[in-house]
Amino acid sequence: MSDLIIRPTTAADLPAITAIYDEAVRTSTATFELIPPDLAEMTRRFETLTGGGFPYLVAVLGSAVCGYAYAGPYRPRPAYRFTVENSVYLASAAQRRGVGTALLNELIAQCEARGFRQMIAVIGDSANAGSVGLHRKTGFELIGVHRNVGLKFGRWLDTVMMQRALGDGGESVPEQSGV
Ligand SMILES: CC(C)(COP(=O)(O)OP(=O)(O)OC[C@H]1O[C@@H](n2cnc3c(N)ncnc32)[C@H](O)[C@@H]1OP(=O)(O)O)[C@@H](O)C(=O)NCCC(=O)NCCS
Repeated sequence: MSDLIIRPTTAADLPAITAIYDEAVRTSTATFELIPPDLAEMTRRFETLTGGGFPYLVAVLGSAVCGYAYAGPYRPRPAYRFTVENSVYLASAAQRRGVGTALLNELIAQCEARGFRQMIAVIGDSANAGSVGLHRKTGFELIGVHRNVGLKFGRWLDTVMMQRALGDGGESVPEQSGV
C-alpha cells in the first residue's frame, strides 16, 4: 500500500476518528463502551492524551483517515508510569490490508522513543481474532484471559491480555526514574 501515510493526529482528523469509533462502539465488542462518545468528548480525550505526552496517530489512505491508534496510561498509580495501554481502530473497509500493523508498529516505535518500557493490550472479546492476530504479529505475547468481565449485546465478554516489552523492557532501570 504505497499510498498509506501514518502521521500524528491533528484536530482536523477528529471527526473521522469519532465516526470510526462510533461504528466500533455500536457494532462490535472490541470496545466495552456502550454509547458512542461525541466529537466534543473525543476531542477532550485526544487533548488529555497528547497533553500527557502520549502518541496519537492516524492512518491516511488516499486523502481519507481510515484508522487511528494511540497509547495512554495503563493504570493511574505512579509506579505504572513506564507502562502504556494501546488502542487501534480501523474503518471496516480498511481492515485486513496491513493498516493495523503499520499503525501499531509506528505507535510502538514512538512509545519506545518516549522512554516507555511496556505496552499492554486489553483486547475486547476472546473472539476478536483480528486484534489477537495483529498483536501477535507485532511482538505481543499472550498473558491471560479475564473471563466474563464485560456484558454487551446480551452476552458475557472476556478480555484477552497481551503484552510487549518496549526498548530495554525490564532489563534496565531508566535514568531519572524517581523513586
Ligand atoms: C484489529 C484491527 C486493528 C487489525 O487491523 P488490520 O489492519 O485489519 O490488521 P492487519 O491487516 O495489519 O493484519 C495483521 C494480522 O492480524 C491478523 N488478522 C487481521 N484481521 C484478521 C481477521 N479478520 N481474522 C483473523 N486474523 C486477522 C492476521 O494474523 C494478520 O496478519 P497476516 O495478514 O500476516 O495474516 C482491525 O481489524 C480493527 O480495527 N478491528 C476493529 C476494532 C478492533 O478490534 N480494535 C482492536 C481493539 S483491542
